[in-house]
Amino acid sequence: MNLATLQPLINYLYIIASALFVIGLKMLNRADTARRGNLISGLGMAIAVVATCLLAGMEFQWVLVGMVVGSAIGAVAAYAVKMTSMPEMVGLFNGFGGLASMLVAWAEFHKWRVEGWETYFKLLPAGAPDSPLYSGVAIVFTAIVGAVTFSGSLVAFLKLAELMPGKPILFKGQQAANALIIVGAFAASAVVCHDPTAASAYAAFYAVMAIGLVLGVTSVIPIGGADMPVVISLLNSYSGVAAAAAGFIILNNVLIVAGALVGASGIILTKIMCKAMNRSLGNVLFSGFGSGATAGAGAAVTGEVKPISAADAYFVLEAARSVIFVPGYGMAVAQAQHAVRELGQMLEDNGADVKYCIHPVAGRMPGHMNVLLAEASVPYEQLVEPGDVNPLMPTVDVAVVIGANDVVNPAAKEDPSSPLYGMPIIDVDQARTCIVLKRSMKPGFAGVDNPLFFKPNTRMLFGDAKATVAQLAAEFKGA
Ligand code: TAP
Repeated sequence: MNLATLQPLINYLYIIASALFVIGLKMLNRADTARRGNLISGLGMAIAVVATCLLAGMEFQWVLVGMVVGSAIGAVAAYAVKMTSMPEMVGLFNGFGGLASMLVAWAEFHKWRVEGWETYFKLLPAGAPDSPLYSGVAIVFTAIVGAVTFSGSLVAFLKLAELMPGKPILFKGQQAANALIIVGAFAASAVVCHDPTAASAYAAFYAVMAIGLVLGVTSVIPIGGADMPVVISLLNSYSGVAAAAAGFIILNNVLIVAGALVGASGIILTKIMCKAMNRSLGNVLFSGFGSGATAGAGAAVTGEVKPISAADAYFVLEAARSVIFVPGYGMAVAQAQHAVRELGQMLEDNGADVKYCIHPVAGRMPGHMNVLLAEASVPYEQLVEPGDVNPLMPTVDVAVVIGANDVVNPAAKEDPSSPLYGMPIIDVDQARTCIVLKRSMKPGFAGVDNPLFFKPNTRMLFGDAKATVAQLAAEFKGA
């Protein structure tokens, strides 16, 4: 069969694939349908790949080689990576999405130069605009956004993996340097778009990619600490924008749709993260440049710490009628979610009302705690939002903080000099008793001391969260 006659079939397959992406995305909304949603989106992608292989002129063998090598690396990485390293792996995957789009732009630019506009235009799908300016703008835009996504994600990866300091890195004249870089990007892009076949255009295109890579680094290093969730979701959105832009270069509808879905959902997530931090996007992106919002270290925190043993914590919990668990990154590190669920069940059997309150930025990736609690089969109905639970906190008998720190730090309300100031927290300090499970007095990701640990109603249960929760459960079993 002549592959060129398959175009209508390919278009139908692309529509089906796009519909499956949307349905899958919608199903990610709920913990109980998320797994199936993932599968459905995966099926959509498989259909899109098969349909793309049917495109006229497509060289299957290279697509297959790429798929086999890529799938092998992806599968090994997914199996080998520890659950606690998942956030940085997801960050890295975002970056590879950007890199792929940048490479598409580069390949198309090269093809255009080698073939000349007339032949290159004939190689584009039917209906493509016969406009070198259109293709030039699409190519440089994709190259820049792809490069920014790639290098920005690498910095985010290094920060999340704690291979570089998580705190904002600021230097004098940063704002001016960034402005200069952006002007440079426009200038180099103008040279490429003016005449991509000119001798100077290749150098200008390299400059576009290099500037994009530098911009990715310079725009992510000044953001750090508790603002990282916003950057991660924004980079996620950029990777979608880069993919959609690549779709506009090669006029591939399914790439445009998939990229637009990732871009839009990423920006919605960014908005949610900004709301969770009570910050505007501009404030997060530019606060390193002089507002001082992220520059302070917060007031020194001193006072008396009251450690508690598992046996004594058991007596407090045994008498409690209402208990709220607040999980944080430490629960992921300890892999304590199953033990927490078991303890929660014991408290319920003991007559307590048990809830789990998740802060939107708890952990190291969006939805981190939701995923862990869903894995431990914590019923969806027992999950509560900070906004709903905070007004009731003074009536809660015990708030049990499992490896959370920044998201329960009262400095966010009490200390205007704190980098966390203004971020809504879960008000565990307002509960009748607050038991904090962690290994030491070390601060959380933002590097800010936590006055919660010194409050009169707080008890510190030191140790690995899985071990201490298991000790509490053992006390219940032995009772
Ligand atoms: P963190 O503030 O990072 O605190 C986690 C705490 O867990 C640490 O203080 C640590 O104390 C404790 N911990 C570590 N391992 C433990 C173990 N095995 N057993 C018991 N405790 C353990 O966590 P959080 O409250 O979830 O806040 C998240 C922070 O990360 C926020 O600042 C947020 O902005 C940032 N962030 C979030 C994201 C996303 S998208 N969610 C992405 C990047 C950054 P010890 O060492 O003393 O045990």
